[in-house]
Amino acid sequence: MSAPAAGAPRPVALVVNGRSVAPAVGAQATLLHLLRNELGLNGPKYGCGLGQCGACTVLVDGVAARACVIPARGAAGRRVTTLEGLGGRGRLHPVQQAFVDAQAAQCGYCLNGMVMMAAALLARVPDPDEAAIRRELSGNLCRCGTHVEIVRAVRRAAVLLRAAGAGTGPGVPAGPEAAHDDAAAAHAADPARHPAPDRADAPAPVRAPAPAAHAAAAARPAHDQDAAP
Ligand code: FES
Ligand code: FES
Repeated sequence: MSAPAAGAPRPVALVVNGRSVAPAVGAQATLLHLLRNELGLNGPKYGCGLGQCGACTVLVDGVAARACVIPARGAAGRRVTTLEGLGGRGRLHPVQQAFVDAQAAQCGYCLNGMVMMAAALLARVPDPDEAAIRRELSGNLCRCGTHVEIVRAVRRAAVLLRAAGAGTGPGVPAGPEAAHDDAAAAHAADPARHPAPDRADAPAPVRAPAPAAHAAAAARPAHDQDAAP
């Protein structure tokens, strides 16, 4: 039997939003392609494709990273969190809730990146001042000029997170992924008292269409590569 061609799709095993997955991707595929095209997670957006706008930001092992320039195969073994992993409809992450509260959106295209960057910042720095927020978000472009509201949203997110006592630690989500992890840990420690988490407890299935985790990104962008939200 001949060996598969070097660029032929092959499975890449990683953990996305708390679930182990192994989609097959080609050698040229990016992590953004894997998330959007193979797993149906449309929270991260395709903007520049060059690592320059921040629309595609996800957390990789808790650190904000630009999925459009990370080779999909290079993400093997990593733990990736997308906007969907932070929270969803009816269970928004405090950062998502803060963006809603502050009405920090116009077209919404940049907001995946803004929310993920804010979540990463607040996990490291619970009470950043305005200068720190601006510094953190300076590499994320907003073509609509919503910057004032976005900064206000991040400051409100800090208040909500502190009030909830959540989001501490690098990139720790307070939404469905965290709830699923908590249930799994309790089950591992004491299976008799804690049932294994079922699908109702788990984050959104990675192959499902993106749920309304687009708390701050409800608008459907016209220039998205897949014409998906
Ligand atoms: S799409 Fe990744 S940084 Fe612009
Ligand atoms: S690009 Fe930021 S709201 Fe439109």
